[in-house]
Amino acid sequence: MDFGVIIKAVISLALISGALSVIISISESVLNNYGTCELDINNGSKVLSVKGGSSLLSSLANERIFIPSACGGKATCGLCKVAVLEGAGPLLLTEEPYITQEERAQHMRLSCQVKVKTNMKLLIPDELFNIKEYICELVGMDDMTYDIKRLRMKLPLGEEIHFKAGQFMQFYTKPYGKVKEEVFRAYSISSKASEHDHLELLIRLVPEGICTTYVHTALKVGDKVRLSGPYGDFYLRGEGCDELIMIAGGSGLAPIRSLVYDVIEKGLPHKMRFFFGANTLRDLYYMDEFAQIEKDYPQFTFIPCLARPEPEDNWQGQTGFVTVALEEQVDNAEKKEAYLCGSPGMLNACITILKNKGFTDDTIFFDKF
Ligand SMILES: Cc1cc2nc3c(=O)[nH]c(=O)nc-3n(C[C@H](O)[C@H](O)[C@H](O)COP(=O)(O)OP(=O)(O)OC[C@H]3O[C@@H](n4cnc5c(N)ncnc54)[C@H](O)[C@@H]3O)c2cc1C
Ligand code: FES
Repeated sequence: MDFGVIIKAVISLALISGALSVIISISESVLNNYGTCELDINNGSKVLSVKGGSSLLSSLANERIFIPSACGGKATCGLCKVAVLEGAGPLLLTEEPYITQEERAQHMRLSCQVKVKTNMKLLIPDELFNIKEYICELVGMDDMTYDIKRLRMKLPLGEEIHFKAGQFMQFYTKPYGKVKEEVFRAYSISSKASEHDHLELLIRLVPEGICTTYVHTALKVGDKVRLSGPYGDFYLRGEGCDELIMIAGGSGLAPIRSLVYDVIEKGLPHKMRFFFGANTLRDLYYMDEFAQIEKDYPQFTFIPCLARPEPEDNWQGQTGFVTVALEEQVDNAEKKEAYLCGSPGMLNACITILKNKGFTDDTIFFDKF
C-alpha cells in the first residue's frame, strides 16, 4: 500500500477520535449538569438547595448533616441508609445486598450510592441532626501493640462531645503520599463517656489500608484532625438484666473499655465478664488497667484468651479461641446481655455459641469490623 495513503488514514482516524472525545466530554458536562436541586427533609421541616451531581451522602455532609458511614462510600458497610420518598430513581445493584424487603417498602436507600440529580424528599431521624463535626488537636499517640495505636484528641476550647459509651466517630484523613483525596472511616470511641473535652481511638494498622496507613505513618502529634459523630447503636441497654457478657478481639477492645467505665461510673449493678481474644502475648494491651479495675470493682472479671501463645510467652491464663472460654464459662442466657466487637469471623462464631445458650437477637449487641 502507498505510504501516503497510510499516513492519511492515520491522520483521519486521529481527527475522528479527537472529535468524538470532544463531543463526549461536552455531552457529559451537559448531561451531568443537574443544576440546583432541592432536598426536602422531614416533610418540609428543612429544605436545602444543593448543587446536583454528588452523592446524597456528601451533599448532606456539605450541609453539615452527617449520615453514619464507615466505608467511605464504597457500598460495603451499609450504614448510610436514608429514606428517600422521591427523586432517587430505581434501587441500584450496589444497594441491593444491604436493603431488606421491609426497608424497600420504607424507601430506604444507601445515601452514598444515590446521586442527587433532581429534587428529593427525604426522611432523616432527628438524632442525626445532633451529629457534629469537630476539629481536634492530636495531643497524644501511643503504641499499644505493634499494630495498634491509641490516638488522644483534644476538642477545641469550649466545645464538648456527648456520646453513649460504645458509639463511634468518623475520622477524616488528609491527602498523603499517593492518596490524593480525603477518605473517612469509622472508629469506636475508647475513652470514657464522662469525658467531654477529648476523645481516644484505638486504630489497628490494616496492610495497604488508606486510613490506617495515614494514621500509622503520616499523622503526628500536634496535627489537627477532623472527626464527626457520635454515631451508632452499639451502646448499653442493660434493663432487667444482671450480667453483661463482653467479648472483643484486637481494636474491638475500644468500645468495650468505654462501656466498662460507663457501668462503673454510673454505679450500675451489673456484673461484667470481659472475654478478650488475641493470638499471642504481643497482641494483648491494657492488661494492667483491666487488672486494676478487677481489683477495684469485684463486679468486673477480665478473661484474656490467647489462641496461640508462644512458648516464651509463659502464658498461664486461658488458652484457645475466645469461643472455647465462652463455651466453658457462660452457662446460660438468664438475665444476661452480650456485647461483642471485633472481626466478623470471631463475632459470628461467638454469636452461634451465645444463641445455643439461649441468647436472642434482643440480647446480643455488636459492631463487626
Ligand atoms: C462501626 C465501626 C467501628 C470501627 N471501629 C474501629 C476501631 O475502633 N479500630 C479500628 O482499628 N478499626 C475500626 N473499624 C474499622 C475501620 O473503620 C476501617 O475499616 C479500618 O481501619 C480499615 O480502614 P483503611 O482505610 O485503613 O482500609 P481500607 O483502605 O478501607 O481497606 C484496605 C483493604 O483492607 C481490607 N480491610 C479493611 N478493613 C480490614 C480489617 N479490619 N482487617 C483486614 N482487612 C481489612 C479491605 O477489604 C481492603 O481490601 C470500625 C469499623 C466500623 C464499621
Ligand atoms: S457509606 Fe458505606 S455503604 Fe454507604
